[in-house]
Amino acid sequence: MSRSVEPRVAVIVVAAGSGTRLGADLPKAFVEIAGTSVLGRALHAVFGMTEAAQAVIVAPAELVSAAESIAHGVAGVARDRVDVVAGGETRQASVAAGLAVIRPSVQIVLVHDAARALTPSALFDAVAAETTRLAHGVIPGLAVSDTIKRTDAAGDLLETVDRSELIAVQTPQGFPREHILAAYAGAREEFTDDAALVADGGFPVSVIDGDPLAFKITTPADRRRAEDLCATREGAPRIGIGTDTHAFDDAKELWLAGLHWPGEAGLAGHSDGDAVAHAITDALLAATGLGDIGSVFGTSDPQLDGAHGEVFLRGTRARLESAGFRIGNVSVQVIGNRPRFAARRAEAEALLEEFLGAPVSVSATTTDGLGFTGRGEGVTAIATALCFPVDNFPAANPVAGLPAGERNATSRARRLGE
Ligand code: CTP
Ligand code: MG
Repeated sequence: MSRSVEPRVAVIVVAAGSGTRLGADLPKAFVEIAGTSVLGRALHAVFGMTEAAQAVIVAPAELVSAAESIAHGVAGVARDRVDVVAGGETRQASVAAGLAVIRPSVQIVLVHDAARALTPSALFDAVAAETTRLAHGVIPGLAVSDTIKRTDAAGDLLETVDRSELIAVQTPQGFPREHILAAYAGAREEFTDDAALVADGGFPVSVIDGDPLAFKITTPADRRRAEDLCATREGAPRIGIGTDTHAFDDAKELWLAGLHWPGEAGLAGHSDGDAVAHAITDALLAATGLGDIGSVFGTSDPQLDGAHGEVFLRGTRARLESAGFRIGNVSVQVIGNRPRFAARRAEAEALLEEFLGAPVSVSATTTDGLGFTGRGEGVTAIATALCFPVDNFPAANPVAGLPAGERNATSRARRLGE
C-alpha cells in the first residue's frame, strides 16, 4: 500500500461463490453481462463512489489473479487502493477473509455482494454517509410488494404474513469498523447477511431505502434482466430522421418551431400544424426506436386538438428519458417561402432547446420557386436527432470517458476546488 493512500472507507466485495443457481460454466463473478464481468461491473460502481475507498475483492482461491486483473483494469490509476484475497467455504468466511486486510485508516466498512452487479454508486455513497452519520450499521432495503405466505414442509398454506413489517434487504451494508470486527470475532453461527451477524453481536442496525438496481443476480432469469438493462443503457448512440409537411390554412394562426407568428397564414392539421415540432418528434422517436408521432400521440386524440409543439416535444423527451435515453442534439431545416426565419432563428432555437434539454439548430431554405413549397402552398420540415443511452451520454458525466480510476481522482480534485 502506498503511504499516500489512507482511505476512510473500505468496500469488501465478496465474489468467491460458485454461482450454483446461475448454472454457468464459470463462477458467477466471472460471468459476463453484456460484455463485462459481474465483478467488473460491481467494481465500476465502487470506483464511481465520491469517496476514494479501499476495494477489497474476495475471490475464489484459484481465481485470485484473474480477479486482480479485472480489478486493476477498473481501478486504473487507483490500483493502489485494491486488495484481492481468497475467499472461504461460506459467504461469512469470505467476508471474514476480506476483513482481515482492511487498512488501518479505515473507519467504515461496506460489505457488498459482487452478484449485485448493477448497484449504482449512489447507493454506496448513501450507505457510507448514513453509517458515518449514525455511527452504527446501515443497510439498504426495499418494501416487499408481493403478498407473502407461510407454508409447511408439504407446501400447504399456513398463513399470510403482514408484509408491511417486511423489507427485502440488499447490499452494500455499512458498519463502523469496530462493530463489524467485534461481531465477526465473536460470531458463533452462520448468518445469511452481515446485518444479522452484527445485530447478533449486540450492535444497532438501521435501514435506508434500497435501489431496485441493486438486485442480486442469482438465477438465469436475473442474468437476462441484467443483460437487458445494460443493453438499453450502454448501446451505441442512435440517430433518427423525421419529416413533416402541412398546407397553409389562412383561417388559422401560424405556430412554427414552437413560436407564434402573428400576421402569418397558419398551417392545416389536427394539432397546431407545427411541422418543425412534428418533424423533430418523429426524428427523436425514430432514433430511440419508440415509434412515430402517430403511434405515440395518436392523430385524432381530442386532447391534442390544437396542441402546440411543446406538448409533443416535452412528451417525447419524457418518453425517451424513461426508456433510458438522453438527447444529444437536434438539427432541423424548414423548407418554405414563409415565414422568414432569419430574424427569429435564435428565439426558435432557445425555445426548442428548453423543451428538449439539448442543443437544437434551426435552418431555413426556399426551393427557388419549385414544387409545392416554391409555390407557397405549404411548409416542410426535415429533422435529424442524435440520442444516447444514458450510461453512454458524453455530457452526463464530464469525466465519463476516463478510466474509472482517473474519473475518481478527478471528482476528488473537484471537491477540493483544484
Ligand atoms: N460468496 C462468497 N463466498 C462464498 C459464497 C458466496 O464470496 N463462499 C459471495 C458470492 O460470490 C456472491 C455473494 O456472496 O457475490 C452472494 O451469494 P450468492 O448470490 O448466494 O452467490 P453464490 O453463492 O455464488 O451462488 P449460489 O448460492 O447460487 O451458489
Ligand atoms: Mg450462495
